[in-house]
Amino acid sequence: MRRVYLDHAATTPMDPAVAEVYIRHATGVFGNASSLHQWGAAARNALEEAREQVAALIGAHPREIIFTSGGTESDNMAIRGTAYQLRERGRHIITSAIEHHAVLHTCQDLEREGFAVTYLPVDREGFVDPGDVKKAIRPDTILITIMMANNEVGTIEPAGEIAALARAAGIIFHTDAVQAVGKIPVDVERLGVDLLSISAHKLHGPKGVGALYIRQGVHIAPILFGGEHERRLRPGTQNVPGAAAFAAASSMAARRLAEDARVQASLRDRLLDGIVSAIPDTAVTGRRYDRLPNHASVLIAGVDGSALLAGLDMAGIAASAGSACTAGAVEPSHVLAAMGLLREGDFAALRLTLGRSTTVEDIDYVLDVLPGLVDRLRRQSRP
Ligand SMILES: Cc1ncc(COP(=O)(O)O)c(C=O)c1O
Repeated sequence: MRRVYLDHAATTPMDPAVAEVYIRHATGVFGNASSLHQWGAAARNALEEAREQVAALIGAHPREIIFTSGGTESDNMAIRGTAYQLRERGRHIITSAIEHHAVLHTCQDLEREGFAVTYLPVDREGFVDPGDVKKAIRPDTILITIMMANNEVGTIEPAGEIAALARAAGIIFHTDAVQAVGKIPVDVERLGVDLLSISAHKLHGPKGVGALYIRQGVHIAPILFGGEHERRLRPGTQNVPGAAAFAAASSMAARRLAEDARVQASLRDRLLDGIVSAIPDTAVTGRRYDRLPNHASVLIAGVDGSALLAGLDMAGIAASAGSACTAGAVEPSHVLAAMGLLREGDFAALRLTLGRSTTVEDIDYVLDVLPGLVDRLRRQSRP
């Protein structure tokens, strides 16, 4: 049976060349980057070289990159670190209702600690209105955190415009760019962001590695305590093989960005057009064209999400119902709810996300399987 992996927003396979860098460092450059002997020096050099390559992907200075364990930790560090650093100045944070749980749950926890959080609404395509951001700013606002691209519906938020508003008001701006980096151009100078989260496993790098960009001159409080690693902001022996592989994946992403985006956007369009024209009662979620190039998401009426995913899985197709983090339970999505798209009755929110190895044959296989599967499930669910 054909096997088609279309869940790259959940995670990507490590590129073989990246895996080779990982293994080479795990076995050959195993020293502790803090050690004073030559093994330590080799690890330190590899780490600093990795920092340069990751920085280059987003137009940052290497000093502005802190290695973390991934997107979740970067989001936690950015938000909680800013809140604690600036709590004497103010205790109000602005975010959106469609953020990843790494952002939303951190904000909710800060509310329990006495911070106030405004969760901005989005429109039916999942866009935050910069006008709403402006209106929500208060004298005690210390942080605005709005994602760069949404994981469930592929919407690309106006992060640069919001960053400019934040800067004009003297407020720190963080963006969760986990789904954006490696898919669309991300340049911290052009965007004017203060803090930006990245995760290696979304761009064909290893799992459990990420970075937080912290603009030079921006100070955040540490949320972990220990040694002096990563400018005392992220103590703990650094993951040198992880960082080196992340760097290799970053360089590859930078090199291939335009071509990958062009190829994947054309396959995505073939997929979305094929689904919408072959299956009645379907609707694209998010914006039809101006969205992440690798991201397709649709609502399919009259079928149950888990049954659809199971049917696709049986046919060898990996897809997702919204976010992988809650997909185990296929809970109603907070993103679709905020977009006003949760309806009565059964419907599946299907997310198909493409990667570098996706082919036109993969897409056509999905287009062969999906209409029949939906039809069967619809007939089964009718009384
Ligand atoms: C938008 C977004 N932010 C954060 C994360 C968490 O990243 P990680 O898995 O590296 O912790 C994800 C992962 O799905 C994501 O899609």
